[in-house]
Amino acid sequence: MSGTANGSITLTVEGSNKATRLPLLHGSIGPAVADIRKLYGDLGVFTYDPGYGATASCESRITYIDGDEGVLLYRGYPIEQLAEHSTFLEVAHLLLNGELPNRAESQSFERGILRHTMLHEQIRSFYNGFRRDAHPMAVLCGVVGALSAFYHDSLDINDPEHRRISAFRLIAKMPTIAAWAYKYSIGQPFMYPRNDLGYAENFLHMMNGVPTESSYVNPVLSRAMDRILILHADHEQNASTSTVRLAGSTGANPFACIAAGIASLWGPAHGGANEAVLKMLGEIGHIDRIPDFIARVKDKNSNVRLMGFGHRVYKNYDPRAKIMERTCHEVLAELGIKDDPLLDLAMELERVALSDEYFISKKLYPNVDFYSGIILKAMGFPTHMFTVLFAVARTVGWISQWKEMIEDPLQRIGRPRQLYIGPTQRDFVPMEQRG
Ligand code: CMC
Repeated sequence: MSGTANGSITLTVEGSNKATRLPLLHGSIGPAVADIRKLYGDLGVFTYDPGYGATASCESRITYIDGDEGVLLYRGYPIEQLAEHSTFLEVAHLLLNGELPNRAESQSFERGILRHTMLHEQIRSFYNGFRRDAHPMAVLCGVVGALSAFYHDSLDINDPEHRRISAFRLIAKMPTIAAWAYKYSIGQPFMYPRNDLGYAENFLHMMNGVPTESSYVNPVLSRAMDRILILHADHEQNASTSTVRLAGSTGANPFACIAAGIASLWGPAHGGANEAVLKMLGEIGHIDRIPDFIARVKDKNSNVRLMGFGHRVYKNYDPRAKIMERTCHEVLAELGIKDDPLLDLAMELERVALSDEYFISKKLYPNVDFYSGIILKAMGFPTHMFTVLFAVARTVGWISQWKEMIEDPLQRIGRPRQLYIGPTQRDFVPMEQRG
């Protein structure tokens, strides 16, 4: 089903007899959108929307967010139910193929993913080209981009089987690439994936294991990791997903598109926020310093933001943040951490912010990143791996959105317009005549 047309908006240009009728398109839920495709042809004007806050760039059946109510649905299923009852690979099947798998589909999907976890052996030597102190997101960008140099047999984006194999390869190999980036940074041997382990379990094995000891993965921690992956798996047309779609709209191969998504995710306003939250908590240092920090956040001239707070779409509690907070308590209890000063600081910071008029009036609530860093730190992840973990999970969303775009008959190259405010045409001035 495509969006259905019902109703319209009529626009007229003041002082002229030009007018146009913009059809209203209705999705299955959520606000209608005005179809502006004929606007320029009819009126000779474009629309202006920096940051695309009011622009729908595509039709999608994958993820729905109601930011006012704090609702997040993957293919119609509430995130709370998926986080509680599902597994990351089941969610991956759901996002990629549209439905939860039955038992036979689930087994075949898992087998498919878990059998693609190894990397081409030559990729090992690729790592040696990086400095040991490189940020793992830089390594991730480079290695994922390089996958297109290794897997030539799945690069034909017009072949559904190639698309399927590329998707499997990306989802399967991402934990291996990420864990190897970490191992490289600390100078430990790379751990090969173990296909008898579950997805999250195998990731923790490759992160924490060493070849000299048999590895044990705590099931409570691997379940928590699986849940963190579910919470980060997709989030409709966010910056990195839109980057993947934009790169993909040119016909670029999926490995290159996901590398573009990783670059976009890296920024502190997006996936880099989980790392920034821990840095911020470290800088605040003590509960007594919270009022001073909040005052700096509220100061217009300071450029300081409360990291892990606020969201372009959610004007209510991010539903993922609630699950993350619960998971945080579970993980700390399992690890026997009774008093975590960082958690105490975060909870007090949240309490103070949620009762402060500045945050209330701007509808700023904790987002998914506010608690995730505390959990990951407790699980032994170094801060610079936090965004990498986000990228591992979001690969499922990126590749699902990429596949949907390629299969969409309305897909065209993404090419926004602009409001040009630079110089008008002028003649070249030779060097000797310039002031
Ligand atoms: N701390 C203080 N003030 C804030 C914050 C914040 N975290 N977020 C927004 N504001 C203020 C902002 O100063 C502005 O005030 P005013 O109207 O007086 O100029 C108003 O709220 C609206 O902010 P905006 O920057 O126009 O909103 P946006 O939709 O463009 O930005 C955001 C959304 C997520 C980039 C922003 O809230 C932010 O920078 N948050 C901190 C970083 C963060 O936690 N990012 C993770 C987002 S969730 C995971 C993900 O997407 O990857």
